[in-house]
Amino acid sequence: MKSFTILGIETSCDETSVALLRVDATKKIPEIELEKHIISSQIDIHAKYGGVIPEVAARSHVPETVSLITSVLEKEHPLESFDAIAVTKGPGLATALRVGIQAAQILAWTSGKPIVGVNHLEGHLASSWLLKENREHWAFPSIALLVSGGHTEIVLMKDFGDYEIIGSTRDDAAGEAFDKSAKLLGLGYPGGPKISKHAETGNRQAYQFPRPMLNDPSLDMSFSGLKTAIRTQIEALKNESSEKNESADLSPALLPDLCASIEEAIVDVLVQKTIRAALQNPVKNILLVGGVSANKHLRESLAHAVKEQLPEVRMLQTDTAFSTDNAAMIAAAGAWHALRDEFDHWETIEANPELDF
Ligand code: KG4
Ligand code: ZN
Repeated sequence: MKSFTILGIETSCDETSVALLRVDATKKIPEIELEKHIISSQIDIHAKYGGVIPEVAARSHVPETVSLITSVLEKEHPLESFDAIAVTKGPGLATALRVGIQAAQILAWTSGKPIVGVNHLEGHLASSWLLKENREHWAFPSIALLVSGGHTEIVLMKDFGDYEIIGSTRDDAAGEAFDKSAKLLGLGYPGGPKISKHAETGNRQAYQFPRPMLNDPSLDMSFSGLKTAIRTQIEALKNESSEKNESADLSPALLPDLCASIEEAIVDVLVQKTIRAALQNPVKNILLVGGVSANKHLRESLAHAVKEQLPEVRMLQTDTAFSTDNAAMIAAAGAWHALRDEFDHWETIEANPELDF
C-alpha cells in the first residue's frame, strides 16, 4: 500500500478517539492529511473518582466508539471511506482495549479491508510524524522521550518498527508523578495540566524536592519518592500555619511555589536523562511525545538543553493536540505498518494489555 486512507481507533484508557488519515507515500516525504479526527474524553466521568476506573472506562467506550465511527464515515457508502483499519491492541486497560478491537473486527469483516493492531506506545512515537515539518527531517537513529500516564521511557528508534528502550522509570511514570502530586495538593485529576497551570507564577527553587537516580550512571529514573517528600513538605507547612493560629488547611497561596518546584524536579530528571541518552547514542533527532509532552516547561527546558548541549541534533516536538491519547497517532502508526504491508488477521487480533516494545 502506498496511497490510502486509514481509519484509526483508540480506546486504551480514558479517551475514545476515531480518525481518518489520508496517506500518500509515493513521494520521498510522505504527504498526509488528517481528514477527520474526534476525541471524546472521559475525564469528567473519572474526575469524581480521582483516577480512571477501568470498568467505567470500558462501559463508556461502547456507545462513544459507535457514535464516533458513524460520524467520521461517509453516510451513503460508509465502508468506502477507508482502505485499512488501525486499532490500538495494547498496552492499556483490557476491557477498554477490547471495545475498540471488536468494533475494528466487525468493520474489517464487513468491509473486507485489512486491519492492523497498533502498539499504543508506537502510536505516541508516530504522533510526531503527523507534523509536516517533522516528516521533512525524519531520520534514524533518533531518540524519543516517551512520557505518559503509564509510561516513561527513553526509546532508541533505529528504524520503523525497530525500537530499543534504553532508559525507563523503575516505579511511577512521570504522568503518574504529576497526578499523584496533584492529588496530595487537593487538585483534581488529571494532575499534569493543573500543576503546570499553578506553576506558571511560582518560584521553581522554592522547595528542593528529590531527583532520585540523577547521579546514577544509567538512563533509568525513579519518581515514587517524590510523593513522600511532598507529603512531608505539606505537613510541615500545615504545622507552621497552625502554630500561627491560621487554618489547618494548606493555603492556596502556597500552591504556585509548590507546583513550580514539583514540576522542576520532574522536568529536571527527564531533561538530564534524555540529554545523557543522546550523548551516549549519536542521533539525528530527539522526539518528545506522550501526554506529559503537553507540558510547556518540559518542552522549553528540553529544547533549550538540546540547543546548548547538542546543537547538531534537532528537536521534533509534537503538536500538543497530539500529545495525549488520540486516534490520529494510531492511524499514523498503522500507516507505518500498512506501508510495509504488515497486517493482522481480523479473526485472531487480540488485546494485549501488557504489550511493550
Ligand atoms: O498519553 P496520555 O494521554 O495517556 C497515557 O497513555 O497514559 O497521558 C496522560 C498523562 C496524565 O498523567 C496527565 O497528567 C499527563 O499526561 N499530562 C500532563 C500535561 N497534560 C497531560 N502532565 C504535565 N503537564 C501537562 N500539561
Ligand atoms: Zn497514551
